[in-house]
Amino acid sequence: MSSVNRNRPRRSCLAVPGPSQKFIDKARTLPADQVFLDLEDACAPLAKPGARKTIVAALNEGGWEGKTRVVRVNDWTTEWTYRDVVEVVEGAGANLDCIMLPKVQTPEQIVALDLLITQIEKTLGYEVGKIGIEAQIENALGLTNVNAIAAASPRVETIIFGPADFMASIKMKSLVVGEQPPGYDVGDAYHHILMSILMAARAYGKQAIDGPYLQIKDLDGFRMVAGRSAALGFDGKWVLHPTQVDAANETFSPSQADYDHAENILDAYDWYTSEAGGKRGAAMLGDEMIDEASRKMALVVAGKGRLAGMSRSDRWSPPEA
Ligand code: GLV
Ligand code: MG
Repeated sequence: MSSVNRNRPRRSCLAVPGPSQKFIDKARTLPADQVFLDLEDACAPLAKPGARKTIVAALNEGGWEGKTRVVRVNDWTTEWTYRDVVEVVEGAGANLDCIMLPKVQTPEQIVALDLLITQIEKTLGYEVGKIGIEAQIENALGLTNVNAIAAASPRVETIIFGPADFMASIKMKSLVVGEQPPGYDVGDAYHHILMSILMAARAYGKQAIDGPYLQIKDLDGFRMVAGRSAALGFDGKWVLHPTQVDAANETFSPSQADYDHAENILDAYDWYTSEAGGKRGAAMLGDEMIDEASRKMALVVAGKGRLAGMSRSDRWSPPEA
């Protein structure tokens, strides 16, 4: 299998309707970490064959520098999936990072996609395993099997929460995607789902991505909902509109102060545990005691900052001898 780095920046994952040249051209200009060109729910059945061609051309034309390039195909219960995959990977496999598979219900559905992509890679002489898989969890069966789905293939890079389909699937009494269902006033109705996805992702070294927030004019609402999944540990969220891109990038990056602090913890711990620093396992950084567990926490925040391309504005130095 491939040695490709699957830990790609994904703070903002921009949904782009596959048939729309206008939205595709706009997407190239936006600072989203990821773009996914959609053959599924934002693409009418009659438009799907044409959209496959539009998407292949858009990927091959380029202009996606710095962005993770993804195509969402239709799910395996439809008649479109295999043609989506064959046309897109055969036509633009060299210019594509991942296939997103919606409504994943079982690990076998991931294995089937893996095998199909492998066939195409072998036929066309591409590196086998280069193209990743993003798995959307959008119904009760998918959530029940989420651990096995995350473990089903080394190609799996992300587990994504699909709130709209999920709410429909479990018969939630609400029409507002991302917001709490009216009448449920004792907690977060999505906590179990988000945590199950996050645990599966972390158990198998994948990224966890939150889905769309449909009230695109309500940026405060977007920030609040994004802030919740970011606080839990999610790596990013879908964005549906240019105004949501900066908000997602900001929400899923550490603050400058937290980033500087995390890098300083790493430097200080490195020094204190060294010969010069006295080979200490626990030490003081200002008023704070740091140890190996602090280092692990700091690595997470520093890792998110580095992935986001942040630079340090403050640097710790060892105490004078
Ligand atoms: C996304 O696909 C969703 O169903 O929310
Ligand atoms: Mg969906």
